[in-house]
Amino acid sequence: METLIPIDSPFFLSGAELDDQPAWDMIFGTGQPLVLEIGCGIGDFAVTMANRHPGWNYIALDFYNKGCLKTCRRAERMGVQNLRVVRDEARAFLARCLRPASLQSIFINCPDPWPKRRQRKRRLVNEQFVGGLADYLLPGGSLYFTTDFADYGVDVARLMTRQKRFENALAPDLWRHDLTGYPRTKYMLKFMAEGKEIYFVHYHRTAEGQGRGLYE
Ligand SMILES: C[S@@+](CC[C@H](N)C(=O)[O-])C[C@H]1O[C@@H](n2cnc3c(N)ncnc32)[C@H](O)[C@@H]1O
Repeated sequence: METLIPIDSPFFLSGAELDDQPAWDMIFGTGQPLVLEIGCGIGDFAVTMANRHPGWNYIALDFYNKGCLKTCRRAERMGVQNLRVVRDEARAFLARCLRPASLQSIFINCPDPWPKRRQRKRRLVNEQFVGGLADYLLPGGSLYFTTDFADYGVDVARLMTRQKRFENALAPDLWRHDLTGYPRTKYMLKFMAEGKEIYFVHYHRTAEGQGRGLYE
């Protein structure tokens, strides 16, 4: 089991210590649109995005303590104001700490691929999970999924076509191998250096509303 290094940072929130349905506006000190990154790792993408979009309130979520610590340190170095790092499990956090239709965007970059066939049921992103994510997105809000693992990318791209509450922002493509302007994460860079392609999938929550994604 991972030894928990105490994280002393104004950016850090332990999921276990968060109230049910916390007042995010109060936590961030502003009522800006809320964005969630699931599995932020070392926080390279999170800090870049929070810095690039000061009009967002960015929640960087991971259950990996050292990753949360590195994300906090990176945020401190960059001096971003609109980022909080939460250590928690994604499904538990969503159910307990976010209201329906509260998120402008959700980013999931290079989730653990569980490459062996017998392990695939452990993958975080599956039909049931994305169906649930639709509940948390605002109408027109974006879901971005990326992976360096071809089988996972194709699988998610296909299962998304069966989701009634999402529409494909990249149509007619089911996925692309590049989205201009989308920051590369540590894992993306590692696999790109090995000559692998990244799969980018981008959907909008179907809606009455507008709200276009940023990277198309
Ligand atoms: C392969 S790493 C990718 C990290 C980063 N997104 C990147 O692309 O460099 C996957 C990350 O997701 C986190 N993770 C996996 N399952 C999770 C879950 N159910 N809840 C929260 N974090 C999770 C892991 O701890 C890990 O940091």
